[in-house]
Amino acid sequence: MLTKIKAEIVPVLSAQTSLGENEIFNALEVPKNLDHGHLAFPVFPLAKQLRKAPPLIAKEIVEKINAAGLKSLQSAEAAGGYVNFKFRNDFVQHVLTKSVHEPALGHSKVGEGKNFLIDYSSPNVAKKMHIGHLRATVIGQAIRNLAETQGYKVTGINHLGDWGVQFGKLAWAYLKWGGEYDFENKALESLNELYVRFHDEVEKNPDLEKEGASYFKKLEDGDEKIKKIWQMILEVSLKEYQRLYEMLNVKHDVIMGEAFFNDKLEPTIARLEKAGLLKESDGAQVVFMDEPLPPCIIRKSDGASLYATRDLAAAIYRREVMKADMNVYVVGAEQSLHFQQVFQVLRKLGYDWAETCHHVGFGMYRFKEGKMASRKGQVIFMEDLLFRAIDLVRDIVRAKNPALSETERER
Ligand code: ARG
Repeated sequence: MLTKIKAEIVPVLSAQTSLGENEIFNALEVPKNLDHGHLAFPVFPLAKQLRKAPPLIAKEIVEKINAAGLKSLQSAEAAGGYVNFKFRNDFVQHVLTKSVHEPALGHSKVGEGKNFLIDYSSPNVAKKMHIGHLRATVIGQAIRNLAETQGYKVTGINHLGDWGVQFGKLAWAYLKWGGEYDFENKALESLNELYVRFHDEVEKNPDLEKEGASYFKKLEDGDEKIKKIWQMILEVSLKEYQRLYEMLNVKHDVIMGEAFFNDKLEPTIARLEKAGLLKESDGAQVVFMDEPLPPCIIRKSDGASLYATRDLAAAIYRREVMKADMNVYVVGAEQSLHFQQVFQVLRKLGYDWAETCHHVGFGMYRFKEGKMASRKGQVIFMEDLLFRAIDLVRDIVRAKNPALSETERER
């Protein structure tokens, strides 16, 4: 776009001065203040050669340009040592519309033959998505789209949070109270209520925590009945997410949640062990990091693996099995310590491909009252936000287009 606008003025300037086209092309600047025009040409390089003061040179160039009568130009003005060019609106619009419709605008082949893996959205299942997931979802999809224009073979991954003790609690609560809820129509709401109810109950009867843990253990050991409930939770969550993804035009190629890595955790820990990286600390097994990072916990004292353990296994899988040349994680900045630790462990394992792993972080929404907290009802669901945005846009369209027919207005 800028190239095309520059190309309009370069030959004219070159004809009026002793400078070559390339030189002029590179010298043209975009003024900081757009009121000054679309492009500015600094005449200083000519001063020595012409032995004239820059403002005078600028003035002379303006006269010559005006005499040349370039149709696309609205004005050329001398301002100190610069000539400022303003182009006519219809010309700028023309260039803009043409560029936008160019199918290969900005495309390249730099990524040809390379696998670009990108992990985005990746919500924790059994919960409705809220606005905190919006950026992880849309920034991820945007980067994915860009990577595709650069020729990469892109694989979009939904790394669902689908494992952990909360599924034991949910299974317990579902078996006990599930019948009282409308799973047919309000599955995620029901799961949420079950979860809250479970915790209310824990207040009265702390032993329930153990029940939750034992149900999770059953799930880990492959208990069929509990596994079915877990699968149901996964299904209803995905069904809901899919609806939102469709609204946002977001697509993943593979759904590969944390649970997928269950049987890959021991081999991962074995690698750490073999490399002499696994150390004991307060009964837990950790990898010590370089200053100033705190140790990366690999296995808790009760033997349980952690989020980081699963991400290590996942990163190794993405490289060794999925052949990632680039492995990108689009996740909120509050997890940047986590990713620094994971990437450092990979480097300590001697994997030079750790350099191809990147965390793309972004900020968190904060409210006057502080962070978003679902417990306090301070949560804005993604669905509500999207419908609200649609309503607002529809109102604006209607207000601006009173002549639209009713059916058109309804769309
Ligand atoms: N499920 C996580 C969360 O909601 C995000 C997962 C991001 N991806 C990853 N490989 N850690 O916080």
